[in-house]
Amino acid sequence: MWPELEWIKDIDLKEKTTLTWALALQRSVLTPDDLNTIPFTLLCGPDLKVTFMDHKRCVVHVALDAGKKMNEFFKTDLPVDMDVLIAGAILADVGKLLEYEMKDGKSVQGNYGKYIRHPFSGVSLAEQCGVPDAVCHIIATHAGEGNMVKRSTEAYVVHHADFMTFEPFRERLKL
Ligand SMILES: [Fe+2]
Repeated sequence: MWPELEWIKDIDLKEKTTLTWALALQRSVLTPDDLNTIPFTLLCGPDLKVTFMDHKRCVVHVALDAGKKMNEFFKTDLPVDMDVLIAGAILADVGKLLEYEMKDGKSVQGNYGKYIRHPFSGVSLAEQCGVPDAVCHIIATHAGEGNMVKRSTEAYVVHHADFMTFEPFRERLKL
């Protein structure tokens, strides 16, 4: 599912990131096959074909490239921890696996997901797997809730990688 896990250099962090996804899949009604089939959001209408995994993996690729460029141009003025960035991008939406319920053979948002949005459930899953605070911070702040707190550099990158690949699907200028 996640060839991008290989980009994490720290073995311990790679294991804990993998474990968090395994735990989420174990607790989810969704399978890896579902994640390669269902649309990545329900907010962009019925015609959206981009799958959950296509979007999640794209965010990790965009974050990787952005982090590399920031390190290249800004050097020690704004250092980006690439391991923290990649792990955070891979885990940002892991809590979404708990937001779904099966209803009449279709995956829909369940009550748990309404009460506990995925930034919160994602942190819960990650902490159970020993994921470090700097990465949990990215999960916690990647979405709109994160606008209320001060983000780390890596959290800013993941937040924007996520939103720049989502908002134009939801609404964009068309001529
Ligand atoms: Fe998200």
